[in-house]
Amino acid sequence: MAESTAQGAAAFVPSGADLSELRAAAASCRGCELYKHATQTVFGDGDADAKLVLLGEMPGDREDREGEPFVGPAGRILAQGLEEAGIDRSTSYVTNVVKHFKFSERGKRRIHETPNRTEIVACRPWLVAELNVLQPEVLVCLGATAAKALFGSSFRITRERGTLLPAPDLEGVRWAGGDAPAVVATVHPSAVLRSDDRAAMYGGFLSDMRVAAEALTGRV
Ligand code: URA
Ligand code: SF4
Repeated sequence: MAESTAQGAAAFVPSGADLSELRAAAASCRGCELYKHATQTVFGDGDADAKLVLLGEMPGDREDREGEPFVGPAGRILAQGLEEAGIDRSTSYVTNVVKHFKFSERGKRRIHETPNRTEIVACRPWLVAELNVLQPEVLVCLGATAAKALFGSSFRITRERGTLLPAPDLEGVRWAGGDAPAVVATVHPSAVLRSDDRAAMYGGFLSDMRVAAEALTGRV
């Protein structure tokens, strides 16, 4: 598969923009090759004053068609986890490491493909801009792609999940007052759907979400 040779999203990110201006600008991003086959950019969505940011990997088939993050099957698991952990989704912000759907076609089906390092790096300026504007108190990494995008490729979800981790230094991100968010890593909601033991996998996911919920109340 050809890797992108594009320059990344930086040139498309307006400086000093608020979330709606970022979202509008991201619609015409050509920072990597992924825009060519996807329907549209799926930017982050949610409360501009959110204290909690939920970070996924990349929009899926449904998200690509609808233009909003986590509105498909994985989004239902996420919504259930938030609700059961007592987190009001309307006071959080949901986004992805990569903002265009990457897929291969098998007949009429579009099969999710994991974004590669080049695409993750290319799309990073959007995430950096979102975090600078949002200044969350708690950041949840949903799955390995999100966790590795923050902590580096040696990060292991199985080892670190469900504990409060200090935010790593992220190039280009300035935490207001030096107040970095607490980070919680958990499994991706899609992994719950794919699991042979869904109940156990969901239970683990929910207990990690409860750690995030507690961190939120602890910080209010
Ligand atoms: N999976 C993700 O990582 N993000 C979405 O928005 C949907 C599915
Ligand atoms: Fe731009 Fe990210 Fe889409 Fe690539 S995936 S075109 S960097 S928004």
